[in-house]
Amino acid sequence: MITRIIKRLGGPRPPKFNPKVRWWSDPEWLARYERHLAADGLGGRSHPHRILDRRFTLASFAKAARGLKGDTAECGVLRGTSSALICETLRDTYGSEHRHWAFDSFEGLPKTGATDAQWKKGDLSVTEATARAALADFPYVSLIKGWIPESLAVVAERKFRLVHIDVDIETSTRDCLTFFYPRAVPGAVFVIDDYGFHSCPGARKSVDHFLSNKPEALIELTTGQGVFFRSGN
Ligand SMILES: C[S@@+](CC[C@H](N)C(=O)[O-])C[C@H]1O[C@@H](n2cnc3c(N)ncnc32)[C@H](O)[C@@H]1O
Repeated sequence: MITRIIKRLGGPRPPKFNPKVRWWSDPEWLARYERHLAADGLGGRSHPHRILDRRFTLASFAKAARGLKGDTAECGVLRGTSSALICETLRDTYGSEHRHWAFDSFEGLPKTGATDAQWKKGDLSVTEATARAALADFPYVSLIKGWIPESLAVVAERKFRLVHIDVDIETSTRDCLTFFYPRAVPGAVFVIDDYGFHSCPGARKSVDHFLSNKPEALIELTTGQGVFFRSGN
């Protein structure tokens, strides 16, 4: 179906961004993105820049963690593109002390629930080797294959300055928030990729429920992402 529509339209078309703003035609950003875009083009069925705005937003919020001490983490790695962008953006800040932790089952989603819309167990499954290849340039990455939350135990004693949560479903999103919130340094940035998507109502539910008794306010972005900064001093 998608292939048929794209064919009729004469191939994947680039997304439209406001020509008056500079970010999407900034050559430095485009070069950085294209180095890591891996499989964002989904085998040619859609334009490789279709989620350029979300990628740019993640990289921008990663910059906000630049001056903080601590590790960075991503839950939901898939082919490694978003982890690579985080690592590239903060490249000079890891040193020998700080790491980027990247968690995924590499068997796709676990059992889903009633709030998880169209998702089902096993969706979004890619090989660990694909992500490993995408992250090979970054010696400070630890790629952890396994099921969240059990797989997170390896970082129980670490502190975090940036956490990217991109796991699509209610239980996984809840488990990531529950684990990382108490391990986040003051000012730490949480980016929840799926917050504003019709396709991920369970993720939104988990975030709203989790923050309902916390001081942090969720900022919903036009890209569909949700962001908050860990309070405290
Ligand atoms: C949308 S993909 C991640 C996309 C990636 N961050 C990117 O931007 O390219 C969601 C990923 O979450 C993983 N995932 C979801 N729930 C999980 C869980 N409980 N344990 C481990 N991995 C999980 C899936 O395997 C899948 O690879």
